[in-house]
Amino acid sequence: MNAQELIATAKKLVADDKGLLAMDESLPTCNKRFAKIGIPQTVEARRDYRELIVTTSRLNESISGAILSDETIRQQKQDGTAFVKILADSGIIPGIKVDAGTKDLAGHPGEKITEGLDGLRERLAEYRQMGARFAKWRAMIVIDNHIPSRGCIEANAQALALYAALSQEAGLVPIVEPEVLMDGDHTLERCFEVTEEVLHTVFNRLYRQKVMLEGMLLKPNMVLPGLACSKQDTVDEVADATVTCLLRTVPAAVPGITFLSGGQSSELASARLNAMNVRYKSRAPWALSFSFARAIQQAAMEIWHGEQANVQEAQQALYRRAKCNWSARRGEYSDTMEKA
Ligand code: G3H
Repeated sequence: MNAQELIATAKKLVADDKGLLAMDESLPTCNKRFAKIGIPQTVEARRDYRELIVTTSRLNESISGAILSDETIRQQKQDGTAFVKILADSGIIPGIKVDAGTKDLAGHPGEKITEGLDGLRERLAEYRQMGARFAKWRAMIVIDNHIPSRGCIEANAQALALYAALSQEAGLVPIVEPEVLMDGDHTLERCFEVTEEVLHTVFNRLYRQKVMLEGMLLKPNMVLPGLACSKQDTVDEVADATVTCLLRTVPAAVPGITFLSGGQSSELASARLNAMNVRYKSRAPWALSFSFARAIQQAAMEIWHGEQANVQEAQQALYRRAKCNWSARRGEYSDTMEKA
């Protein structure tokens, strides 16, 4: 492990108000999103779509790194140039999702465990050799009446810590993603309580596994009411709850928080990130940044619709969404940008 290189990469991923573009949807997830809007679920369509993303001009103005999937990191543009090279040449650091998805957690109905530790050391070495410089692992925590359980939180935190240590050993910055889902009718307060417990446990396990905090990034959920909750809190209330929760749980040595969007609308995700930066940027110990998939890609995917003729317009939408989030990091986003 080259500690200085890991620290430099982690800092670069959150520098200059840029953020991450998550384009690492697994095959089933990507196919599900394509199916929903009538795009064929083929390897060619997925490659075409990813080519649209990586060839979007000036994306590097707002995006510092892109998270790829195992399929995408091996793909090329029509002319044979590897996607990884296109990204790196434009100053966007390539990253890779390394978990193998979630499975039911034995003995814990309704809860999930993320798999993918077997053979991970060898896969990380291969990805590093292919050009990846950071690696992401997502744990999924569901809120319901009697869950999450301690067993689920601890098992997922332990897997996150083992993957993070292996990533640093391989020279890849871990992007540690414990996602508390928005599904359900729970309140913001309940999300706060669960997120706080999850993050405490995760950082305890990261410490035990000797993960270097300066050479990692945290990718958490924002603290939000469930999608079906009757009380939807204001943008500022969400910003306050989220940053308060993070201040209580995330050590200052971590260089950045790169939020997932988790199913929020693109506009709300930008507005909430903006409010956090307006209210806390000058005093938060870490950068408050983004690592969105849906909240950056959704409009572009819908415009593209699998048609070559729509590529340019879709790229404009992608560029614009990334720019909105860059503005949100600066605390300069406003809804007039949506109409511009
Ligand atoms: O693991 C999830 C993605 O990296 C973030 O996706 O912004 O659509 O929640 P999302």
